[in-house]
Parts: sequence; structure tokens; C-alpha cells
Amino acid sequence: MDKALAYAEENFDGFVTELNELLRIPSVSTNPDHVQDVRRAADWLSDHLKSLGIEKVEVMETAGHPVVYAESVKDPNLPTLLVYGHYDVQPPDPLELWDSPPFEPVVKDGVLYARGSCDDKGQLFMHLKAAESYLRTGGALPLNVKYIFEGEEENGSENLPAFIEANKELLSADVVVISDTALFGSGVPSITYGLRGLAYVEVTLTGPDRDLHSGVYGGAIENPVNVLARMISALHDDDYRITIPGFYDDVIPLTDEERTTFASLPFDDQEWIEEVGVTKARTETGYSILEGTTARPTLDCNGIWGGYIGDGAKTVLPSKASVKISMRLVPDQSPEDITEKLKKYFEYNTPPTMKLAYTELHGGNGALVDTESSAMAAASEAMEGVYGEKPYFVRTGGSIPIVADFKKLLGLDTVLMGFGLDSDAIHSPNECFGLDRFRDGVRSIIRFMSIYASK
Ligand code: BES
Ligand code: MN
Ligand code: MN
Repeated sequence: MDKALAYAEENFDGFVTELNELLRIPSVSTNPDHVQDVRRAADWLSDHLKSLGIEKVEVMETAGHPVVYAESVKDPNLPTLLVYGHYDVQPPDPLELWDSPPFEPVVKDGVLYARGSCDDKGQLFMHLKAAESYLRTGGALPLNVKYIFEGEEENGSENLPAFIEANKELLSADVVVISDTALFGSGVPSITYGLRGLAYVEVTLTGPDRDLHSGVYGGAIENPVNVLARMISALHDDDYRITIPGFYDDVIPLTDEERTTFASLPFDDQEWIEEVGVTKARTETGYSILEGTTARPTLDCNGIWGGYIGDGAKTVLPSKASVKISMRLVPDQSPEDITEKLKKYFEYNTPPTMKLAYTELHGGNGALVDTESSAMAAASEAMEGVYGEKPYFVRTGGSIPIVADFKKLLGLDTVLMGFGLDSDAIHSPNECFGLDRFRDGVRSIIRFMSIYASK
């Protein structure tokens, strides 16, 4: 392990140069114009894995973007890690808000700026550099490792569950490791044990069959924008609880122990409020900001439109109104069940003058992983070795739906050892990844591999 750590230290600048090559490939999975770029990123990763000396490397087809699979399985008596990451990225828009082009990585003040630098190319790359550090010094990895890198996480991982289902044997392992989450704070080590799920639905309400003159017809026509607005505003009550019948049925409540731990975390409400630029936080009555953003379900309109939204006034009574609604779910809420309940809510409240239509967008289950496993203990010890203090166990508000599928399909728990920061602007302009965290990530993974191997 010490030799590997020393190797990583000596070769760190080279690691960054290589990562930059991957970051230059605009592998935007949601945009069909980038299909070839996504494949180029897969090929790049596959070539890179081969160059490290990992024997079995394959770009495997799915109905969508390919999966990069690789393994180094040498000794059946050693534990096997299944390392997951995603090499696709979010669209870079709005481009004009970037200080430098999103696919031309630059380092400024020790921070690497590029789309995917944190989410997730930079983080998955830490795993390859940790492996390289062993392979170039002792000749072998301390345990068996399988890598599965997907190209459509940002597009809802549509084809990955079927891929896992079809390759159960190939993917058999002892534990999954993912670096695609954030540290609790700068220099504050943490391991994530909870993820939220997601249900995302677009709702369209149609009234008259065309836009009408608001003077000629207004007064006898129900307006879909007005009605949709009324239905949306009634989705929360005064305690900021969601009013959809049965919405909370399957929510696993926070335990007293969790709430005590949450309250003891180094989190400053006022700082958070100032950082997001609001005057006050608004949480479900009885819950803290941290609880509200990581361990309670939410419902948010992401966008709303209808009628005339151009410059100036146009007197129109619109035919249609639409809204995109995302709900962050917590275990054990199921996205299918919640989507059904949301639809029922709209159906029940839609006046007879209107027609309703839906489009279901993303969905995924949340997850709570075992915090008592030997893999978690190894991860904790590894991070303590790097940071000089034990990591906190935290929950995050983001979603990585495949974690629930790993559990359901392969029976595997996941260790979420991520090194991002909430301020890394993932999905936003000027996404970045501090090189100190890239380095600490590589170090932590090197340690984790050795420690877990001997557990
Ligand atoms: N890496 C993120 C999830 C994440 C973000 C975890 C922040 C922890 C902290 C992942 O790539 C992501 O963006 N997930 C999507 C869900 C997906 C179904 C599009 C999300 O959370 O919106
Ligand atoms: Mn991610
Ligand atoms: Mn993402």
C-alpha cells in the first residue's frame, strides 16, 4: 500500500493530464447529436484500462449507450469489488455562463474546471489511478476488482438494470463501490449511506381546442393556466407537506438516532441560507434544512408554461398549460406508486372542462445502505488514514438509482465514497473538481483496497 501511495504522489500531475483527455470528449448522453462522442469516451476508457494491464476489458453493447466492463480477478479467496461509475455527462448549457469552454479543461488555483470533472469522470478516474498505483509498483491488485462504467446515468440509466439482469454471473462481487457523491464539506470526510429516489412527470392540461381571444371568450371559459396553477399550489399544505393522498405511506421515518446525528453534523444553517441567496429556508414543519434536503421527500415544479410568454402583451386565453414536476423520494417510496398517486391527484382535481395528459420522465428508487458492513468499516478506516479523522455517515438528496438495483438484482450493498462538494457546480456552468480532492480520493481508494482485502 505504501508503495502505491508513493506512486500516486509522484505521478499525480500525469493523472490530471490523462483525465483531461477524457474530459475533452463531450459525452452528453441525453443529446442524440453526441452518440458518437459517448462511444468515443467508452473506447477511451477501454483503451486506458487495457494500458494499465487489466487483462479483461470489454465495451459491451446495450440498447442505448455502451457499458465499459473490465475485471482483474486473480484469487477466488480474496474479496471482489464492483466499482461503478458513469462516463456520460450532463449537457453543458447554458454555454454563455461558462468562464472557459466546458470541454476544454483548465486548472485555476488548484481547481479543475470542465463538464464531468466531478460528475463523474474525475471521480471514476480516481479508481483507475488507484489500481494503476498498485499495478505499477507491486504488480498486482490487493483484491479482485470488476469495473462497470455506464454511459447513460444522466439519462436515467434506462438500459442498465436489464444489463445487470443479463450479466449477474459476470457482475458477482462482495460489495459495490461508487465515487459519485459529495463530501459533507471541504476537508470534512464523509461516507454517504442514503440516497433519494426520483419520480419525474410532465403534466399537460388542455381546455379549449385552440388559443382564444381573452376579451371575446373570457368569462365563460375555464383557463388551463389558472386551473393548473391552482392544482399546483394545493400540492403543499401550510406545513409544507405534500397533499397527494398516500404520498407518505411508504416513507421510512428518520430514527431518533439519525436525527441526533444529523443535529451534530458540522452544518451551519445560516451559512447555507446565505450561500443559496435566500433570506430564509422553508422546510416541512418540524424538520431541519439538512433533514429536508436529504432525508425527506419533496415535490418541485421544474418548469411551467402555457399561453403567451413572448415580449409584450397578447390577449389570449390559452388552450394548454404544462408543468414538469419532480419528486425526490426516500426509501421505501416507489417511483411507480408515487407517479400513480400524483396522476390520481390531478385526475381527481381536473374540472370536467379539461383534458389531462402525462409524460413520464425519469424514475428511480432511493436507497439506504448497510452502515455496519466490513466494507463500510474499511472505507471509514481508509478515509481516516487520509483525513486524520473518522468520516461522518451522511445522507444526500441526490439520486443514483442503480444503487437500489444493485441491491435488488445482485443482492449487493454499496459503499458511496465520493469526493465532490456541493459547490462543485455539477449539472451547472463552471463544474469543477478540486485537485486536492482528486488526490485525496485516489489515496483513500488505494487505502480502501488494501484494508478491505484484509478484512
Ligand atoms: N452524481 C449525481 C447524483 C448526486 C448528486 C449524488 C449530488 C450526490 C450528490 C448523479 O449523476 C445525478 O445527477 N443523478 C440524477 C438522477 C438521474 C436519474 C438523472 C439526479 O440526482 O438528479
Ligand atoms: Mn453522477
Ligand atoms: Mn449527474
